[in-house]
Amino acid sequence: MTIDASQFVKWFRAATPYIHVHRNKTFVIKFDDDAVHSDGFNHLIHDLALLNSLGIQLVLVYGTRASIEKLLNSEQLSLEYHKGMRVTTAAVMDYVKEAAGKLRIEIEAKLSMGLGNTPMSNAELRVCSGNYVTAKPLGILDGVDFQFTGEIRSIDTDAIFAKLKGHEIVLVPPIGYSTTGEAFNLSADKLASSLATHLRADKLIYLMEAEGLVDSDGRLIRQLLLDEARTLLADSEETTAIHSYLDAAIIACAGGVPRVHLIDRRIDGAILQELFTRDGSGTMISNLPYDVIRPAGIDDINGILELLEPLERQGVLVERSREKLELEIDHFTVMERDGVIIACAALYPFAAEHTAEFACLAVHPEYNNEGRGEQLLSFMENAAARKKLKSIFALTTHAEHWFLERGFANAALENLPVERKALYNFQRNSKVLIKKL
Ligand SMILES: CC(C)(COP(=O)(O)OP(=O)(O)OC[C@H]1O[C@@H](n2cnc3c(N)ncnc32)[C@H](O)[C@@H]1OP(=O)(O)O)[C@@H](O)C(=O)NCCC(=O)NCCS
Repeated sequence: MTIDASQFVKWFRAATPYIHVHRNKTFVIKFDDDAVHSDGFNHLIHDLALLNSLGIQLVLVYGTRASIEKLLNSEQLSLEYHKGMRVTTAAVMDYVKEAAGKLRIEIEAKLSMGLGNTPMSNAELRVCSGNYVTAKPLGILDGVDFQFTGEIRSIDTDAIFAKLKGHEIVLVPPIGYSTTGEAFNLSADKLASSLATHLRADKLIYLMEAEGLVDSDGRLIRQLLLDEARTLLADSEETTAIHSYLDAAIIACAGGVPRVHLIDRRIDGAILQELFTRDGSGTMISNLPYDVIRPAGIDDINGILELLEPLERQGVLVERSREKLELEIDHFTVMERDGVIIACAALYPFAAEHTAEFACLAVHPEYNNEGRGEQLLSFMENAAARKKLKSIFALTTHAEHWFLERGFANAALENLPVERKALYNFQRNSKVLIKKL
């Protein structure tokens, strides 16, 4: 794929705020051995190298399940599970060590490869691994002795932070060591979640073999609040991979990790898309309240009026009566946080001219300058594009530059649809701005 210079500049500028935001942050990233053995793994390594060079502190955790199963199959052995967890006998533990050790070497080798002829030419990566995780036996559940299946007892966060400070990538196998000198088999999903919580990571990212979480109609769920994730967990089957991811994600979120991302590792660059674009690529579970953008309904009239009235008094927006708003409510979209309307905008289509007026954009002053106006604009642009409109236009007395900086261009009154031109208020003398879609 080649991109032209203007596309490149546009993309790079759009990514810049995210580069600033992520610098010096700690991300725990978990992927499976399927990923390590896939064709796309070199690309993933380049992406991780890029994150490292942008100043992101990386802790990587890998899963071993497929490798262990392959080793056992070759010996005509199989794994026993109880409640979705592996039972690790002493014999199985030997294979666990073999798989974890081999994978560690394979990942370290890839992270050490000369990155010449790649997007990360000249980047030198240092990777370390160690006895950071202390474990204890999971014990006996429902009469089933899990033997060498362990659970995490403590994590040596100081040792990990010291490595991260030295710009090293910390690679953690799903093995924990006990004070009695034994090794225990850990769930990599839970390990990643524990590491993220103990390290107070800014993000926990699961690279999974699916596009993310989907709803009952098979549609990708883009965002989930912690409580919504708990409901989904209660409805999911205990033995599935989704259950394991959700369970671990919820523990991390409840433990203070602000955002957990479930991303499809099969998509080339999915991790970059998630971190450096507004739309992201998978499912994000968050313990923070987030803003919901949705079509307005009749119950929102009071909230919208409260938002608009001060701006109408200042002459920034044209006055709208309650009756007019009731008639036009279907054109409105609102942004809501915790049940409060904090922003709104309207789109009035002029179908014959393949255009629409983007009007009545307002963001509550307490929520200004955090990208909400722009988010509403892009939401409305998408809605207009879905209606196959070719442009949108705005009339403004106070925000001309805001629109110019977002791809609108000044236009003449003559460029407006005839019907809209007839309603133009010469006293207000608003600027006309048009954006091609
Ligand atoms: C214009 C408005 C919608 C912007 O919403 P917002 O969520 O605060 O803005 P965003 O976070 O998307 O953008 C912030 C940037 O726009 C700039 N900006 C905000 N209002 C602006 C204005 N009236 N003119 C020019 N730039 C403006 C900010 O300085 C900031 O720039 P920076 O990042 O370089 O510092 C909001 O200020 C508002 O409600 N204004 C009153 C109503 C109005 O004028 N509506 C438009 C006419 S329909």
